[in-house]
Amino acid sequence: MNHGSDPDNSSFDHKSKKESLSIDLLSDLPTELLSQLKKTGLLSLKDIVIEGPFELSAKSGISMDDCNFIYNQAIAYLEDVGIMEKRFTPATTIYDKRKKIGRISTGSKNFDKLLGGGLETGAITEVYGEFGSGKTQLCHTASVIVQLNRNQGGLDGGALYIDTENTFRPERIETISRARRQNPSQTLDNIIVARAYSSSHQELILSESRRIIEAQNIKLLILDSAISLYRSEYLGLSALSLRQQRMNKLVHSIMRIAQTHQIAVLLANQVQSSPETGFGNTSFKAAGGNIFAHSSTYRIFLRKSNRNRIARMVDSPNHPESEIVFSIDESGITDPQKI
Ligand code: GTP
Ligand code: MG
Repeated sequence: MNHGSDPDNSSFDHKSKKESLSIDLLSDLPTELLSQLKKTGLLSLKDIVIEGPFELSAKSGISMDDCNFIYNQAIAYLEDVGIMEKRFTPATTIYDKRKKIGRISTGSKNFDKLLGGGLETGAITEVYGEFGSGKTQLCHTASVIVQLNRNQGGLDGGALYIDTENTFRPERIETISRARRQNPSQTLDNIIVARAYSSSHQELILSESRRIIEAQNIKLLILDSAISLYRSEYLGLSALSLRQQRMNKLVHSIMRIAQTHQIAVLLANQVQSSPETGFGNTSFKAAGGNIFAHSSTYRIFLRKSNRNRIARMVDSPNHPESEIVFSIDESGITDPQKI
């Protein structure tokens, strides 16, 4: 991409386009395509990358070939400015970058250890488990802790909480923040809640979330839960393939949001009974079939164990399968008390 040859490089206009990563930076694009693109409301290069060429073509009416070109140009720009990994990158560079990756503490040292330090930015962490296993408590606790500074386990940012089950409770946020000596009203101010009423409403919220993420300095995106609405709407075998298709689109768009905005994503997921019980196995599987298995970066199974809870790392590109004990108290997720 020809960024260097812009004669207007030092102008304020160019600077603001660069800062907002405006699609105007696609200087090789014919003006009529650019204006057709603007009509879709996708004004930033990040938007283009999150949508992907297929959606771009469907939304704008621009040909698939042109959309592939636009998409690749947008990726190249994000590579240039360091938001996305360069196409051919030495593993050492990737390793150095990973060491500096942002993480959000869960509130439990044990749980953080299981995750290699906490919820990772640029990745999807999926927690699944039975009712009362602690998924919603983890979502509440993380949306409080993300607001702390890096030395305290946070990322100095806000949380965007997409609530599909009507289980977000500001009172719980108040208790958790009080117990953690954070200011409850400030903490509540930094959590943006979106209640989703249907799967298409949830998709609309997600597509609009990009503006909020930038404007409110969001560092944690929560979906509690990610697919319950799909499960309740698409019933029966005949609807299964359409449901999987839509969920597949959903998780890929979430992954692109996590990566282009460098935020952590926490997905709560339901369980379904599995016939494959046996030694070391559980009788539950995450809902949603293979869709999440392939898209979540980390998958964690939560279960009750007397007064405590157990978290098991089930799938990770860089952690062994192992489990830890945590508990829930007024401060949210925490470590079990030593007796
Ligand atoms: P579903 O959404 O129903 O599938 O369950 P979930 O996994 O989201 O459960 P959730 O995280 O809501 O956990 C609920 C459990 O957390 C309750 O059964 C309590 O055991 C515990 N809990 C919730 N609030 C408090 C609290 O203020 N203090 C303590 N000690 N425990 C709490
Ligand atoms: Mg819940």
